[in-house]
Amino acid sequence: MARHEFPQNGTVAEDLIQQLKDNKSNDLDWEHGRSFSYIYKPSAAIYECLQEAQRIYFAENALNPAAFPSLRKLEGEVVDMCISLLGGGASAVGSMTSGGTESIMMALKSAKEWSKIHKPTIKQPEVLFSNSAHPAFNKACDYFSLKPVIVPCGKDFRADPKLVESAMNENTILIVGSAPSYPQGVVDPIEALGQLAKKRNILLHVDACVGGFVLPFLEQAPKFNLSVPGVTSISADIHKYGFASKGSSVVLYNDPELRKAQFYVYTGWPGGMYGSPTIAGTRPAGAIAVAWTTLKLLGRKGYDNEVSISMRVAKQLQDIITAIPDLEVVGSPDICIFSFRSTSFDIYELGDEMYLKGWLMDRQQDPACLHISVSPNHENYIEEFKKDLLECIAKVKRVSLATLNKNIQIGASKILRKILPSQTYQKVQNLALKKGGVEGKRSAALYGMIGDLKGTGDLEALIKGYLDTLMRKPEE
Ligand SMILES: Cc1ncc(COP(=O)(O)O)c(C=O)c1O
Repeated sequence: MARHEFPQNGTVAEDLIQQLKDNKSNDLDWEHGRSFSYIYKPSAAIYECLQEAQRIYFAENALNPAAFPSLRKLEGEVVDMCISLLGGGASAVGSMTSGGTESIMMALKSAKEWSKIHKPTIKQPEVLFSNSAHPAFNKACDYFSLKPVIVPCGKDFRADPKLVESAMNENTILIVGSAPSYPQGVVDPIEALGQLAKKRNILLHVDACVGGFVLPFLEQAPKFNLSVPGVTSISADIHKYGFASKGSSVVLYNDPELRKAQFYVYTGWPGGMYGSPTIAGTRPAGAIAVAWTTLKLLGRKGYDNEVSISMRVAKQLQDIITAIPDLEVVGSPDICIFSFRSTSFDIYELGDEMYLKGWLMDRQQDPACLHISVSPNHENYIEEFKKDLLECIAKVKRVSLATLNKNIQIGASKILRKILPSQTYQKVQNLALKKGGVEGKRSAALYGMIGDLKGTGDLEALIKGYLDTLMRKPEE
């Protein structure tokens, strides 16, 4: 593939802007409600104001708060507003980060440092979470050399406090509750987990990355925030249901000592004393300014309104889905995110057919289902969704060439796995993955093959190959 060369000369600004606009033409049409993840679009017309906020703080750097006191003020106010929303007491503190993953990483780094002081005999600290918890916890454990201990959820897809308790041991430093977990949108029993944490004198992090700006605005919500006894930290993403631009989340702690444990300091550098509150060095001021503006622009009333629309639309979509005999909603979702599965056909094929019509729903596993995160913006597209869903189901139920093709591919994959040396098999899989997952729009076969590889080291190598392909320029 030809490399895109570094340009010799500059290009006229208008041309570049036009190129950028054209460049988006094949992307997902999220503005017309086609995306059920990644983008959270409110009903209120706030984008122009947020873009202006971004423009005002386009160049500044939040790395050094002393240089830009105005940013320190904005960030402090964002953190304070979130503490007041999420039940923090007078001593609660927090930081802004680039997103949910960074917030979670910071909570786990703090826990590791905390354990060195409060549990000094522990050589290998363990972090305990349910299999529904976001992979950011696995990632953080990997980065910070913590041992992840993963327990299955209960039948209702919520963390099971009994299983959590039985998996605890003298090395456990932190347990995790999701509010809610992403796959099925259910909130873990945070109060029960808090009791366990208190009993064992360990930490409890609540991952409210997706629910932090939804649960506070529900009439009836399970208890989940910093006010629950035993909860020591919480993460909430302003760039999800907070509706800010990407790159803003908060991690909050009841105890300021815990936040201090998150900071990184190096004093021996010739460039000066180096201190940094989170993972990033340079931090974009625009994300802070946009977060601040969004919270102020909407306020409690604005969020109340957005959440009530999202909940109403989620209910309407669930009603459409459950009225179809072949489909069912998985579990009992607590917020406006949920998943659905089929009792009679391959749900991934429905995902493929819907994708061909422009709708993106994440393919989930255990159980195989499709994910829907509802935004207020989806309100305008419910009928179109219903029409396309019914058409796609009718198509999937007809025995099609694509179905046949898929079954043949999975069958071939199983045979190949038995007869080929593992490296050769992996190359074949990579090829198939490239065809189905990156350039093609059908991935049901791909998921079938992946199912075949589960529990083998090949799967990890396969996904790394997939990422490697994705990080390259698409073929023109
Ligand atoms: C429950 C939950 N936690 C954490 C994250 C990670 O957030 P981010 O993608 O902003 O890093 C997500 C993302 O969807 C999530 O749903």
